[in-house]
Amino acid sequence: MKRVFSGVQPTGNIHIGNYLGALMQFVELQQDNDCIYCIVDLHSITLPQDPKILKDNILDVAALYLAVGLDPKKSVIFVQSMVPGHAELAWILMCNSYTGELSRMTQFKQKSKDSESAPTGLFTYPILMAADILLYDTDVVPVGNDQKQHIEITRDLAERVNNKYGKTFVVPDGRFLKEGARIMSLDDPTSKMSKSAENIHSRISLLDDANKIKKSIMRSTTDSEGSIRFDSINKPGVSNLLNIYSAFSGMGVAEIEKKYEGCGYGDFKKDLVEVTVGAIMPIQQRYHEIRKSQELIDILKDGAERANATSEKTLARVKKKFGLGL
Ligand code: AMP
Ligand code: TRP
Repeated sequence: MKRVFSGVQPTGNIHIGNYLGALMQFVELQQDNDCIYCIVDLHSITLPQDPKILKDNILDVAALYLAVGLDPKKSVIFVQSMVPGHAELAWILMCNSYTGELSRMTQFKQKSKDSESAPTGLFTYPILMAADILLYDTDVVPVGNDQKQHIEITRDLAERVNNKYGKTFVVPDGRFLKEGARIMSLDDPTSKMSKSAENIHSRISLLDDANKIKKSIMRSTTDSEGSIRFDSINKPGVSNLLNIYSAFSGMGVAEIEKKYEGCGYGDFKKDLVEVTVGAIMPIQQRYHEIRKSQELIDILKDGAERANATSEKTLARVKKKFGLGL
């Protein structure tokens, strides 16, 4: 059994890209691994958050985790800030990281926009992520390609500490998603579907109602050629819709192309609405059952207790290696 760890930020608008790219893998992996899935609220405050909305977003992600099929009997599900070891290990790792390597992180460069008033936490974000992973002796981290640099720095830190203090950490591997699993924005199919894009019709959120889903799909960007075929370079919009259709229907792309030979985009999009709504509504139904329940709170409390027990052992080992405390 391998230890698997991953996290999602509670920043709202969990969309079908997050679902198809990340959450579905989480569910798959829990069958024969020892999985820990975290809601990384400490990461989310690297940029300003409204406290009330943050609280709701945390519970939303937790309820969605369960709604898509994560099973608290198989996986540990918890909220990062409820386990103090994350911040503590992050400090220790920070003292073994270099400002130079953090300055090279593309996510920091993008999000800080070279501003002198970028929060320090945004700069040290990758170290907190390394702490999340190393705290649980993680073997495998399922994440999107955009996280590759963060996995690399986590590995570097683990190896650096191991070399300096003797074997302390497991050096984890990233498990990256296939290119095809990247869901693109509906209004601009050359950029990734994102939680934060201004245009709500650029994404389909897992909590969108059927009407909104219909609007977003029907107005999605295609091209003027009028034929339904996969060609991600020349027809990025249609190719993205084919990917979504395929993921939600279980049909192969070639099979879908064949089915819609000679049809117009309008008919294809109408069917895609049906397929997407059909896949998302059962998730929403479970989400609504769980979201307001005491069971959700109990699951998160139990998850935090279990995560804490493991993290305390790792921290005791680390502190001993570093000569910290008594
Ligand atoms: P984030 O939105 O950055 O919190 O992402 C949570 C997880 O979903 C990460 O593993 C991302 O790589 C993945 N993800 C985010 N956007 C997409 C997308 N458009 N397509 C596929 N996976 C995505
Ligand atoms: N940085 C990740 C993202 O934006 C979220 C994250 C935080 C994470 N800690 C993690 C992912 C640990 C995997 C493992 O998607």
